[in-house]
Amino acid sequence: MFDVHQIRQDFPILTEKIYGKPLVYLDNGATTQRPKRVVEVMDEYYLRYNSNVHRGVHFLSNKCTDANERAREIVKDYIHAAGTEEVIFTRGTTESINLVAYTFGEAFIREGDEIVVTEMEHHANIVPWQMLCERKGCVLKVVPFKDNGELDMEAFAALMNERVKLVGVAYVSNVLGTVNPVKQIIDAAHAVGAYVLVDAAQAIQHIPLDVQELDCDFLAFSGHKIYGPTGVGVLYGKKALLEQMPPWHGGGEMIKEVRFEKTTYNELPFKFEAGTPDFIGIIGLGEAIEYVKSVGLEAIAAHEHELIEYAMGQIRQIPGIILYGDAPGKSSVVSFGLKGIHHFDLGTLLDKMGIAVRTGQLCADPVMQHYGVTGMVRASFAMYNTLEEIDALCAGLKKIEQIFKM
Ligand code: ALA
Repeated sequence: MFDVHQIRQDFPILTEKIYGKPLVYLDNGATTQRPKRVVEVMDEYYLRYNSNVHRGVHFLSNKCTDANERAREIVKDYIHAAGTEEVIFTRGTTESINLVAYTFGEAFIREGDEIVVTEMEHHANIVPWQMLCERKGCVLKVVPFKDNGELDMEAFAALMNERVKLVGVAYVSNVLGTVNPVKQIIDAAHAVGAYVLVDAAQAIQHIPLDVQELDCDFLAFSGHKIYGPTGVGVLYGKKALLEQMPPWHGGGEMIKEVRFEKTTYNELPFKFEAGTPDFIGIIGLGEAIEYVKSVGLEAIAAHEHELIEYAMGQIRQIPGIILYGDAPGKSSVVSFGLKGIHHFDLGTLLDKMGIAVRTGQLCADPVMQHYGVTGMVRASFAMYNTLEEIDALCAGLKKIEQIFKM
């Protein structure tokens, strides 16, 4: 049985007071909180077992190596990859996408080729492709979205042609909460011979993912958005593709033999993991996924569905509110403004009430331009949020609206 009050006890930070008020943490799209057991496992490894992975014959090194590789198994199972060689540990979604832009770009992209992204992408799924276009002379094309936050699938279909080599798409928009039809996008891209990278940063903690069923070529996510540590993320890639891509960073671990005449590279996934990884972070990520599994992703999704439905219904009723993104089936994000009030003022006043929301461009400037605004306020939910916290947000917004009216 899903018991939100029981779950909250696993997250000590949720009992903190901010300016003497109970913390209402609604900035989960930026980063989720960590349950005790994630921090405890990492503590244990730092305090009792710390030793570098894949490098030693001694007990501690083997212990950390085993736990690092066990975390890879956990990730593999969680996203249903075909094998652990398809799971590459990175520093996060941004690094995962940059890795693909550089190495897939090196192997597969030629002048005049096209890369397609959507207007609702996070900067991390725009800028690496723009940089690739500058290096290679390829062309970036953009699929627009409609004002309600849905992707314009007719425009997407019109952009598909044999020059397109890669489509980059967010599974869930970090601003609009739109859950994009990624399976349809992947099938259409494959039909013209293009590959697809799914940015799952805002999906991994909300939606069960199966990379084989989706048939995506790449998928990226960060540990800290799924209740794990910062500085650790994952790139999933199909083995056949990863094998054709050159390594990115050079150094220890990614090599087989180093000769001054010619160095040969390690097998997957280590070919893409130069240097000492954040193995204790990786172990923490494995623990976070085990935690999510123990609560049950289906149950989490059902709870978050209730939260988003309730939040949209309540926030809509606040005088002067402007909601951004109302696509059917949207995920755990509500972005909004209040007429005549700057988003920073709104965020600052909510903060004084103990309510943490994100304000500004939300790392998605093109979405701001779509609506002709300089920024928004975003409330984003996680498994431990409650209906009462949404009431607190709405009460805060009403109070601010009254203050500004005077
Ligand atoms: N990408 C994170 C967000 O949307 C930081 O808030």
